[in-house]
Amino acid sequence: MKNSLPLLLDLERPRGNLISGQVHKKELDKLLLKELRSGVVGEEQWYRNDVLWHRLKSAPGNPYGNSGCDSEYDLVKRSSDKFSKLIRNYTQVFLGVGTGESELEVVKAGLSTESYLEVIAVDVNREFISDFAKMIRRKVILDDCVVMFKGLNSLFQSLNEKSFQFCNKKNARNIFICFGNTVGNYVPQHLIFSIFEKISNRGDRLFLGFQLNNNIEKIYKKYSDCALFFPFMTNFISKPDSSKVRWNLNKELTQIEAYYEKRIRRSRGFPKRTQLFRSRKYDSAKISKELEPFGFKKIWEKIDDQEIACIQIYERKS
Ligand SMILES: C[S@@+](CC[C@H](N)C(=O)[O-])C[C@H]1O[C@@H](n2cnc3c(N)ncnc32)[C@H](O)[C@@H]1O
Repeated sequence: MKNSLPLLLDLERPRGNLISGQVHKKELDKLLLKELRSGVVGEEQWYRNDVLWHRLKSAPGNPYGNSGCDSEYDLVKRSSDKFSKLIRNYTQVFLGVGTGESELEVVKAGLSTESYLEVIAVDVNREFISDFAKMIRRKVILDDCVVMFKGLNSLFQSLNEKSFQFCNKKNARNIFICFGNTVGNYVPQHLIFSIFEKISNRGDRLFLGFQLNNNIEKIYKKYSDCALFFPFMTNFISKPDSSKVRWNLNKELTQIEAYYEKRIRRSRGFPKRTQLFRSRKYDSAKISKELEPFGFKKIWEKIDDQEIACIQIYERKS
């Protein structure tokens, strides 16, 4: 009898745990303290509570776009037949799975050309990884296919190329997939690019999804008008005051920013103003240039008709 569900097996050992590693609250707290002193909160802090991100992503009018309105998700879904050959025989390594809809389309695209797939999902929040594994199990229904899976509950900054070596792994190369404008959350920008460089080898690929900087005023309005950003970006503040949040459009960096205009911790050494949130939007040619010094060369790109979202595949050449 044929399987109607794909087998989801541990990439590390037979009958193993699908998720390894653990980001402890203490580790995040320690990092937060350092960040608060410097006046800039790191993106990993926003995702402490997965429910807040789920709510934000499903809110009508949220800036990430819902399906059916030229979102990154639509772009990935619509062009999967174009990129499926570029991801064949690569282990799919998802850097930040979140709600996982676009990621699932990549898994489906992989299974459209091969019946054996290796998937690694990295996220600071364990819930996102566990939901993603369930989504693959339930939604990617194909006969006779096997998905070898490993979830890594880790910070991106703690990874190195050895993090992706598992004894059941057959593919020699990885494709690192980083969607949802995650690259735009980093300050300074080169931090995430140097992580890509650190975790990859020559011949590996990088699959990015991000928002373009066209119509940035309109995108800015979507961010500043969306009330659900407040609980999301202040989740670590006890009794946050919404009147102290100020949005800013940084035109020079084409970056949307939000600040908290009050000391977050009372003691000395904490600034009066803290950058709570940022999201950089991109020029597609410029980001490719910025990635070149890190060894990545663009091999494929797709932009939606309204030039809102962009997906690009790079290959590490050096
Ligand atoms: C902007 S969301 C994008 C989620 C998903 N890729 C999408 O397209 O909707 C960023 C994701 O990366 C994870 N993340 C953010 N910073 C991280 C870090 N430093 N280490 C590990 N995971 C991180 C978050 O938990 C979240 O799932």
